[in-house]
Amino acid sequence: MPIEEAIKALREGRIVMIYDGDERENEVDFVIRGDAITPSLVRWLRKNAGGLLCFVTTEKVGRTLGLEFLSEYYGRRGYVTKAPYGDNPAFMGYVNHIKTKTGVRDADKALTIRELARIVELALRDPDAAYEEFRKNFYLPGHVPILGGRVGTRWGHTELALILANAAGIPPALAIIEALGDYQEAMPLEEAKELASILGIPLVTSREIRPLA
Ligand code: 5RP
Ligand code: CA
Ligand code: ZN
Repeated sequence: MPIEEAIKALREGRIVMIYDGDERENEVDFVIRGDAITPSLVRWLRKNAGGLLCFVTTEKVGRTLGLEFLSEYYGRRGYVTKAPYGDNPAFMGYVNHIKTKTGVRDADKALTIRELARIVELALRDPDAAYEEFRKNFYLPGHVPILGGRVGTRWGHTELALILANAAGIPPALAIIEALGDYQEAMPLEEAKELASILGIPLVTSREIRPLA
């Protein structure tokens, strides 16, 4: 079953591809656990996926770190905060680890993501300590967006990735990036399926993931 392969792959630190559906973004994202990220993997994702590399955790962990949804921040100021397909974006802030050089480089992003994964694990055990460490060791704004998932009320790639992580029994700390295509658009689903099969990456859809929530 592809869904079982995807859960196993995610648990073992391998890449999984997630398709959200044609009623939403109609995009495929690459997902991997945050503690499995390396500089060379960031480079590979930049070249082969090409979207915006983000860190996914839960809304609860984001708030533990003192963050709020940027849609709340901008909403209070009267800006439009909803995407055209109706969702409030999951962005809760953009960060860099303090030991990064500029933040944008592959090695910098890998460091930021791995350290965020460590902070999430700490947040699950000791929220106050995680808040202190986060404030001490990261600066904002930076180059890695933190996405906060609202499982049960929102069904974006953020939440689909978190549902898979929960099924895999791993912490809610993942790296995610959209697969873009060669023609100024997202990578079409058929092309993503072909790529997944060539590379041996499990590709699962919202329809397969949602029943696990
Ligand atoms: C950040 C995004 C992407 O769409 C990503 O897939 C996660 O967001 P969402 O949960 O909205 O699908 O907006 O690049
Ligand atoms: Ca989005
Ligand atoms: Zn998405």
